Amino acid sequence: MALRTATAIIDLNALISNFCFIKKKAPNCQILAVLKANAYGHGLERIAKELSHSEHQADAFGVARLDEAIALRAAGIEKPIVLLEGFFNKVDLGVIAKNKLQTIIHNHEQLTTLCSANLECPIKVWLKIDTGMHRLGINPEDFSHYYSELTASKNVDSSIVLMSHLGCADDTQNKNTDNQIALFEEITKGLSNSKSLANSAGIDAWPRSHYQWIRPGLLLYGVSPMKEDINEVHSALVPVMTLQSSLITIRKIAKGEFVGYGAAWKSDKETTIGVIAIGYGDGYPRHAKNGTPVLINGRRVPLVGRVSMDMITVDLGQNSQESIGDIATLWGQGLAVEEVSTWATTIPYELLCNISRRVHVSIR
Ligand SMILES: Cc1ncc(COP(=O)(O)O)c(C=O)c1O
Repeated sequence: MALRTATAIIDLNALISNFCFIKKKAPNCQILAVLKANAYGHGLERIAKELSHSEHQADAFGVARLDEAIALRAAGIEKPIVLLEGFFNKVDLGVIAKNKLQTIIHNHEQLTTLCSANLECPIKVWLKIDTGMHRLGINPEDFSHYYSELTASKNVDSSIVLMSHLGCADDTQNKNTDNQIALFEEITKGLSNSKSLANSAGIDAWPRSHYQWIRPGLLLYGVSPMKEDINEVHSALVPVMTLQSSLITIRKIAKGEFVGYGAAWKSDKETTIGVIAIGYGDGYPRHAKNGTPVLINGRRVPLVGRVSMDMITVDLGQNSQESIGDIATLWGQGLAVEEVSTWATTIPYELLCNISRRVHVSIR
């Protein structure tokens, strides 16, 4: 007996294929590959190495936490690394300088701490402007002040990148993106600094947002960032992660029987229930609704009953031919994580980065 437990198959050729798709979309841009949250669950060091040493190289990496950047340096990654939320403590500045990291500046505390520090060498800065998302970034009216303080500081490298972040680019009908681009243009007009605005959705649907640096996350991993089903994107992308496990039990139940915790699902016919070794302890979403598709031997079958920590149950139907040990695909090749995330009332980002440590990783 040799049954597969929860396994994330990571297809590095798919990563390169998606990288080429991005490059084709924005051929003249530099690429900052976003690797935060363990490279969206795909393995921080693994993805960084693949995008450092292959023929298709990213120009920089983006992470959210200093620890993620340090882990990349410890793994031998030498490319520029940008801290997308900037630094959190004064002592971080020494670590940033020593490891040749780059930091976003998005608030006044960061500005004054950086400018008053006693650093051995200047740090490269990305100045983040709030153009309407109202999450991180300085107010447009404060731009001149920040810009002149940073350009005058001995602690700041002279090539400051000007950036902002798009809040609604996944929706091609939403006017906010045009407004954000227009405001970004107005604030940065006449300045020859490099600029950066586009996340995956910006890269895909808003060419005007490309500028010199694009910042893809989700697209790299072969997942569409768009709200609508944009077929062109779907067919061009290849999912990097395929999540699989296997059937560990198959049982017949009669009409009217209940399945799982809370007896939350009742069969309306005699049927066959398959039990798959994956649950919320692996990162499969507990809120996946009855009917969420699962692929078994290429056949779509519906999730039934509650998701448990280590198992889910599916309805294989009356005449099922499946056997114990058959492979179940939860998402990835053949079943888009975008679709599964809709059934779980969430987004693909959350499903991918929630993959837990006990899930086996198999590299292709
Ligand atoms: C500043 C910044 N840029 C780029 C990205 C990448 O976003 P996406 O995965 O949608 O491409 C993120 C992720 O949230 C981000 O915070």
